[in-house]
Amino acid sequence: MGNAITKIKKHNRNKNKRLKKKTSLFNNEEEETIDRLQVLHHFYRDQWKGNFSSPIGEKLKDGGLMILDVGSGTGTWTCDMSTDFPLNLYFGVEILPIFPHEKPRNIVFLINNLLEGLPFRSNSFDYIHLRFMSLSLKPNVWQDKVINELARVLRPGGYLEIVENEITVSNRGPNVQEFFDRVHEALRSEGYNPTIINLMEEFLINSGSFKNEDIKHTLMYVPMGKWGGKLSEMGLKTYYSLLKVFATMIKIPKKQNIDSYLDMINEEINVYHSCVISHRFVARKS
Ligand SMILES: C[S@@+](CC[C@H](N)C(=O)[O-])C[C@H]1O[C@@H](n2cnc3c(N)ncnc32)[C@H](O)[C@@H]1O
Repeated sequence: MGNAITKIKKHNRNKNKRLKKKTSLFNNEEEETIDRLQVLHHFYRDQWKGNFSSPIGEKLKDGGLMILDVGSGTGTWTCDMSTDFPLNLYFGVEILPIFPHEKPRNIVFLINNLLEGLPFRSNSFDYIHLRFMSLSLKPNVWQDKVINELARVLRPGGYLEIVENEITVSNRGPNVQEFFDRVHEALRSEGYNPTIINLMEEFLINSGSFKNEDIKHTLMYVPMGKWGGKLSEMGLKTYYSLLKVFATMIKIPKKQNIDSYLDMINEEINVYHSCVISHRFVARKS
């Protein structure tokens, strides 16, 4: 084990040297992004009433499972899970060095570019979690480099869980509709697919590792803004920093600065009782 840890430390040191501070508009080490990820973690955990939907609760309690969090970000999900279910071994892989250095002993964080392949043997993990990566990865990598690679390191009978939000809200007023139309257009022109979520089940099936009947897709409409109560009001405040990133991608109408434009968007989200549309895909490997 000592040897493995030394290898991991060396791997992280070498990767660190090659890292850029910022790999895209949505992957960066800025404090605002880091804060947003941490608050959003608690927000969605409360809304979904837990950190996972896969039927693994009892096994997690018993312990001995190998668990992987892909694109683990600030490591909040991994740390939370390792506290709730301490008898398992957790790995987080992340392209940026934003995970915590003080952490429980049952977690290993690795700097790794998923697109270069995962540094694990086939059939290693009992459970793999991937959350909020739809704006980090271009559409052409999802099948071969992401889903097929995750299926490779997942053991037969293990679960892959993917959590993503739509890049829009429900109940859109006219300004919100126009805002997201333009954000989608901007994302497409940057080579992203803002509706990649609609292809997720197809990717899972095409990997050849998951049967249709072993894939469960659940949707949740998460209220955002004052109208949904205290938690949703906080949710919209956090979501606001993401809206701000989106707003930098589009041309703001003349006579408005970014803050007044976003105030208008926020107001409309409140008035129309908009929700973020959150998806969870749970797939059992055959
Ligand atoms: C929106 S964040 C989500 C973080 C975390 N999953 C969560 O739910 O809080 C997406 C994360 O994926 C990481 N990421 C993007 N591309 C990656 C890649 N090719 N390999 C590994 N991690 C990557 C980003 O650096 C970022 O931390």
